[in-house]
Amino acid sequence: YNPLNLGEQSLAFSAIPISHADNVTVPDGYRAQAFLPEGSPLLPNAPEYKADGTNTGNDQLAQVGAHHDGMHFFPLDARTTGLNSDEGLLVMNHEYVDPNFLHAHGPTPPPRPADEVHKEMAAHGVSIAHIKKTGATWQLQQQSPLNRRITGYTPMKFSGPAAGHEKLITKYSPEGNAARGTLNNCAHGYTPWGTYLTCEENWARYFVNRDSQPKEHTRYGVGTTHGRYYWETASDAADEHRRFDATPRGASAHEDYRNEPNTFGWIVEIDPFNPRHVPVKHTALGRFAHEGVVFAPPVEGEPLVAYSGDDSRFEYIYKFVSSRPYYRANAGSHLLTEGTLYVARFNEQGRGEWLPLTLENLELQKRAMEQGIVFEDLGDLLINTRLAADLAGATPMDRPEWGAVHPDTGEVYFTLTNNTRRTAGQVDPANPRAENYAGHIIRWREQGEQASTAFVWDIFLFGGAPGTYTPATSIQLSDDNHHACADGLWFDSAGLLWIQTDMSGAIQGGPVYGNNGMLVADPNRRLVKRFLTGPVGCEITGVVTTPDRKTMFINVQHPGEGSTIEAPSSHWPGNFGSRPRSATVIITREDGGVIGT
Ligand code: FEO
Ligand code: CA
Ligand code: CA
Ligand code: CA
Repeated sequence: YNPLNLGEQSLAFSAIPISHADNVTVPDGYRAQAFLPEGSPLLPNAPEYKADGTNTGNDQLAQVGAHHDGMHFFPLDARTTGLNSDEGLLVMNHEYVDPNFLHAHGPTPPPRPADEVHKEMAAHGVSIAHIKKTGATWQLQQQSPLNRRITGYTPMKFSGPAAGHEKLITKYSPEGNAARGTLNNCAHGYTPWGTYLTCEENWARYFVNRDSQPKEHTRYGVGTTHGRYYWETASDAADEHRRFDATPRGASAHEDYRNEPNTFGWIVEIDPFNPRHVPVKHTALGRFAHEGVVFAPPVEGEPLVAYSGDDSRFEYIYKFVSSRPYYRANAGSHLLTEGTLYVARFNEQGRGEWLPLTLENLELQKRAMEQGIVFEDLGDLLINTRLAADLAGATPMDRPEWGAVHPDTGEVYFTLTNNTRRTAGQVDPANPRAENYAGHIIRWREQGEQASTAFVWDIFLFGGAPGTYTPATSIQLSDDNHHACADGLWFDSAGLLWIQTDMSGAIQGGPVYGNNGMLVADPNRRLVKRFLTGPVGCEITGVVTTPDRKTMFINVQHPGEGSTIEAPSSHWPGNFGSRPRSATVIITREDGGVIGT
């Protein structure tokens, strides 16, 4: 924790107004520059990006993916001092694709040409980019052996209680201990030992199961007629594409892909410094629509604690507590293989409790029995995390997105982005607004140590139009900071809270809120200011700084969303006439100072 230094005032910049412009705006004295747009050559042999959409699937495997999302900067010396602010690995998620802009003429209707499917799967996943600052300019080190793409094809293995479970058996992995690829990687996390975690969010609709679905599919919304992008119809009929059809066809799970959807919904660990590392899906952290994962600052000799939200209407917030204590000297992946997963219940009067998702939870088991639900073992329970959380009595939330833990106090903040389907009869103290279109940010403090099962909570900030008031903090929104649909959330090392918005539908780009953007809050001073606005039709996501806080990286995802090649609503980051592309943005100060002060 680096509290603000003497002489360093938080939020000394002038807040910027809302914007409808097709560009990125930042306060006076700051600079913003697009970096590593979708399709940029990444690996040493990568072909150039073709602006007409004619790059192939194989090209895409060597290029930066699409729909940039969660992101972290690992200083090149992350495993030692961790202070290098001039060179490191920028690691980012690629959540999904817009086939309309990805291909030369948009998507071919099903059956899908194999190379279109190939390009779409290759544009998903993660990019690891070795970058270096020379003078004031950051550049990709394209010849570095550390550059890597992880995609929907990359071989992975399982760890934890569900590894080797019969419900993870597929034709690809008869032992149920391996899987191919990661998809819909929304937000992310980073471990205290310097690895990256990518989180699988809305993976369920990538699959279809036309048979009567098991609870492992129905509770997550696996498709019943076709997959999201119809990958299961790929013209090459390759096993790696056909697996998106989970309809049973063989005599057993060894012969088909009925269990393929069970191999998604996990948190995946990647060692960015080892290009040959096989990513690990950690089943101990549960299976749901993981937005991201955030760790409490580790304490020597205490369990490691992490939090993760399930981003869907009326879903839950989870907490993982490792079985083994954390010791800096040997901290590593083993801390994520064994532990207790809890789910949050927010009670009246600002109190809450963490309910264990275990076979030993008698309340959970009693309700399971009443409903005729049997969990064979802990692995089975974790594959069915959502169902276990229903039975435990968790509080259904207004779409839990990112979490952030204050580096000093250990207080946890979570965005609840919106939930327009909550009725007046369904409101509760933690989700107090019916038809909650603008969302809010909840926070809590664990009672005693971080692994405690009791907490106290309040609402830090309500989204809404100017004048919106949050009683617990006495913050009243004004033209300088009104916003809706907070999603990305991150504490920098000085305790400034960065808040990113993901409005969609009519309010996005509308007269009240303008385009999506980013605010920064100093919770101590109860001060919030708008810091950045994005181009037309985008969301703002992914935020991290270098250790010296003098370079900030954020992501612009899906500029021009909802428009077509014929009439794109955005051309960002290119010029008029070009297709819109997701990209990173590098933010610096003209005087070389610290961002946000
Ligand atoms: Fe992919 Fe919850 O945003
Ligand atoms: Ca997104
Ligand atoms: Ca998000
Ligand atoms: Ca969102």
